Amino acid sequence: MARHFDGSKLVIASHNKGKVREIGDLLEPFGVETVSAGDLGLPEPVEDGLTFIANAEIKALAAAKASGLPALADDSGLEVKALGGEPGIYSARWAGPTKDFTLAMAAVVDKLGEADDKAANFTCALTLAWPDGHMESFEGKVFGEITWPMRGNKGFGYDPIFVPEGFDTTFAEMEPAAKHAMSHRAIAFKHLIDACFDKN
Ligand code: IMP
Repeated sequence: MARHFDGSKLVIASHNKGKVREIGDLLEPFGVETVSAGDLGLPEPVEDGLTFIANAEIKALAAAKASGLPALADDSGLEVKALGGEPGIYSARWAGPTKDFTLAMAAVVDKLGEADDKAANFTCALTLAWPDGHMESFEGKVFGEITWPMRGNKGFGYDPIFVPEGFDTTFAEMEPAAKHAMSHRAIAFKHLIDACFDKN
């Protein structure tokens, strides 16, 4: 059985304000007070893991050890089947130092070329780590396909080129609430909540 979170304060192991806000919102119904690694001035560890879970574990463990509090980290990205899973754990890096996702999306489509198979998925890994080194990790995936040209301006990252299975719209054309109800992050969160949080 997974270890239960029974504290009242949790560090969100991220310096990304968007992620911190989204995770804070998701945890609010559980009466958990959150503080970010950025606000605590914690250093950003080197993410040299080879899987989403490995990188989430690096970030969560570093924040838990440094703060003395349980810490939650998210690592996520886009995996394109015909590209052998690329950009995968390097999804943020493909956008370069200026974080230009138009460039990153064009690179995905360029590499895909005339390939018939446009299948892709987003993956999100979440790790909850305690200061004693114990960790619980969960993963969520949402499947779909790559489309071009880009459509929509609502989401972030690779959303304008990703159409989830069973839909005609890209993630960037959907209302945020619709995306959040079915996203890789929502699925990983459900696993985390079911295993580690008191739902009453
Ligand atoms: P991380 O901060 O190292 O986990 O990088 C995650 C990267 O994956 C982000 O910068 C986005 O490019 C991409 N990504 C993750 N989740 C999503 C999503 O829901 N929509 C679009 N792109 C995403």
